[in-house]
Amino acid sequence: MKHFVFDAYGTLFDVHSAASKHAGAIGPHWERLSQIWRTKHLEYTWIHAASGRHTTFWILAQRSLDFAAASTGGLSDDLKAKLMDAYRTLSAYPEVAGMLKTLRSRGATTSILTNGDPGLITEAVQAAGLGALLDHVITVHEAGIFKPHPAVYKLATDRLACRPADISFQSSNRWDAAAATVYGFKTVWVNRSGAPPEYPDMPADHTLATLADLPKLYA
Ligand code: LAC
Repeated sequence: MKHFVFDAYGTLFDVHSAASKHAGAIGPHWERLSQIWRTKHLEYTWIHAASGRHTTFWILAQRSLDFAAASTGGLSDDLKAKLMDAYRTLSAYPEVAGMLKTLRSRGATTSILTNGDPGLITEAVQAAGLGALLDHVITVHEAGIFKPHPAVYKLATDRLACRPADISFQSSNRWDAAAATVYGFKTVWVNRSGAPPEYPDMPADHTLATLADLPKLYA
């Protein structure tokens, strides 16, 4: 496999690391708040994509945090600002850097294809020290529409000048892997949360618990 393309949020970066960092200030329901925040954030992107509207991932992160806070008893403006700030520099999962290095040592290319805004994803990549391990960081900004619109997946084949089947696309978001399968990528669902199977008519080619075993999959 020549090209490896990764979803960013939830796949390379732990979106729950923002709330985890401020768990003490949020309180014992921090995980519930973080789950609602993430679920609503994604829902907002889907509704924008399905209705042909576009805005920034950052604005939708703010709106979904407002909703999550209001659903769980409220948060101070100061704490919301701290959570948004933490969202800029989310932790990368521990296996990510080593896995990217292994793939690149074989001559493969490694790229991100994300809903994240160009500035936001650049900050996350730099903070996690992954900049030198990625060939391309592609964002939906170029397509003007969020995932799972096919125009987003086409950005990767255009940039890499290859066929969809020449790309292995990794996402922890099952819906993202489903749409990528429909587009024609080889897909790997990174089932970090041990979720049950779904989308039987849009199967991922492989399922892994983390990205640690990705290099072995194509050894
Ligand atoms: C992304 C979202 C889907 O990085 O997590 O595109």
